[in-house]
Amino acid sequence: MFNIFRKKKHITTLPFHTDVHCHIMPGVDHGAQTIEDSLAMLRAEMEMGINRVILTSHVTAETFENTPETLAAGFDTLKRAVEEEQLPIELHYSAEYRIDEYWNKEYALGHEIPMPGNFILMENSFQQEMLQLDDLLFDLRVKGYKPILAHPERYSYYSDRKQRLQQIHDTGVKFQVNLLSLAGYFGHGPRETALWMIQNGLVDMLGTDMHNLEHAKVIHDYIASHDWERQAKKLEGHLLNDWVKGPTQKAQH
Ligand SMILES: [Fe+2]
Repeated sequence: MFNIFRKKKHITTLPFHTDVHCHIMPGVDHGAQTIEDSLAMLRAEMEMGINRVILTSHVTAETFENTPETLAAGFDTLKRAVEEEQLPIELHYSAEYRIDEYWNKEYALGHEIPMPGNFILMENSFQQEMLQLDDLLFDLRVKGYKPILAHPERYSYYSDRKQRLQQIHDTGVKFQVNLLSLAGYFGHGPRETALWMIQNGLVDMLGTDMHNLEHAKVIHDYIASHDWERQAKKLEGHLLNDWVKGPTQKAQH
């Protein structure tokens, strides 16, 4: 069987077993396109020590207007394939919800799908902070959800106003940083902010945000590095990835 890590002498695994952010569901966004892509990516997750994956496909206005039906269909297809292949990996699905006009419409209809334990992964715009961010995060919490802000280190408008990140985090919102950002995959800015977040205790979860096998390779190489060893030590006892479990309860709208 093809194994992208075969040539590595040392297999380094992550200090948690749940990936809370990835694009492995086939054919619903610009992540995995086929079942074969998905299975290869799940095998890459397993190589890193992950045995529970929360599938968080994009739900974004205009580009990826997924619905509860498209996500359920993608999940069923992948779950069947994983069972046929007998991969020892637990799958759940939710989504990565961009805060935009499509979200506003879908949320009003009660179409959001929370993660196990009622966590929900929210994505800010990359251009500017959404005006309704504070109100929305508050509303989600009032409704019983535990909002996670996806990769805060990637929103460049926070890089020179990091106190704003502290302020959002102080309200109880969880922060999920991308391993790809730590690896430097998105350049200097996101890595620098991610390191600052670790230093200041603002990282609650790490995610692969894996869209393809190239991402898997970058992450795998990174977690074999000395830098990762140093960061992992600082994160010890802080990561809540494996807390994403338990029953979900849909909010009353
Ligand atoms: Fe993502």
